[in-house]
Amino acid sequence: MTARIAGIGAYVPENIITNDDLARIVETDDEWIQSRTGIAERRISSSEDTGMLAAEAARRALDAAGMCAEEIELIILGTSSPDNNYPSDACMVQAAIGAVNAVAFDISAACAGFIFALNLAAGLFQAGIYRTALIIGAETLSKVTDWTDRGTCILFGDGAGAAVLKADETGVMEMLMGSDGTKGDALKCTSRTLGNFLTGTEPRMGYMTMDGQEVFRFAVKKVPESIEILLKRSGMSREEIRYYVLHQANRRIIEAAARKLGEPLGKFPMTIERFGNTSSASIPLLLNDMVEKQMLKPGDKIILSGFGAGMTWGAALLEWQPG
Ligand code: UT7
Repeated sequence: MTARIAGIGAYVPENIITNDDLARIVETDDEWIQSRTGIAERRISSSEDTGMLAAEAARRALDAAGMCAEEIELIILGTSSPDNNYPSDACMVQAAIGAVNAVAFDISAACAGFIFALNLAAGLFQAGIYRTALIIGAETLSKVTDWTDRGTCILFGDGAGAAVLKADETGVMEMLMGSDGTKGDALKCTSRTLGNFLTGTEPRMGYMTMDGQEVFRFAVKKVPESIEILLKRSGMSREEIRYYVLHQANRRIIEAAARKLGEPLGKFPMTIERFGNTSSASIPLLLNDMVEKQMLKPGDKIILSGFGAGMTWGAALLEWQPG
């Protein structure tokens, strides 16, 4: 038994923020952002939080799979912008959609969150513990973005994507996950604190900081390396892989991965131009886009690959068999 994606759903806030909009608040311009990242615009939430975006994506994934919320046994939500320390966003989704029979929890693996959720669910299916799951990547990174920092604020966007998983003989065929905590400072978002009454420590804001070049180098190394490992383990050739569905962080990272793998860029679909980097939501948002464009056929073999803060990375090779 393994985990098969039975349905995909996605949801993004309606407000579109263009590069020109950002050029009015930091020193940047459309040409720089497009040429360095491939991003033209992103969605930014004005009133919906991570849990709300996640719940809507989850409803759409359930519709696509033709299932009702009561049938779900497990909800795993990956996010790097949770609404609260607790309760988890997964528990909020459970309540919002009425998945009364599910166990629900969040995982913190940043942009690799959706892959970690998929692999964790697949492992639990393989162990025979659960047979249905909802996995979600959801973010409102706009609330932890430093809007005075042009090195980060131009990159990120809000959104959510979800997949319904069913236990089956086909689906996830190979998976891989990794972490390197020694590189944790390269991409960081500190917690908000109210200070400490014993030491007189001041309250602290929580916001994102990033060493862009270090993260870039890390991604360009780890993404192709993970894909090569999955290909080797599965005994499959590159020709048998229909698409590489990569975390949408930067168009140049995706181009570099394609070059290293010796694969044509056409096998690397992208949504980065419209949504920016939506962290854990980027892979399911892209999968949903591919489904809408009817790019995937039953039996297609695809590789998903993500990386992010931690540092973390993960990949999965799967057979596409929705329904
Ligand atoms: O999900 C994982 C999350 N993060 C990532 O994947 C990020 C990976 N890294 C990147 O995508 C890239 O490193 C960035 C897009 C963040 C930056 O691109 P870069 O080509 O690495 O630029 P850089 O940091 O080397 O900066 C080059 C120049 C600098 O100016 P000087 O020192 O050469 O005068 C920056 O100050 O570009 C400047 N710069 C900007 N200029 C206009 C940095 N940000 C901007 C900006 N607009 N927004």
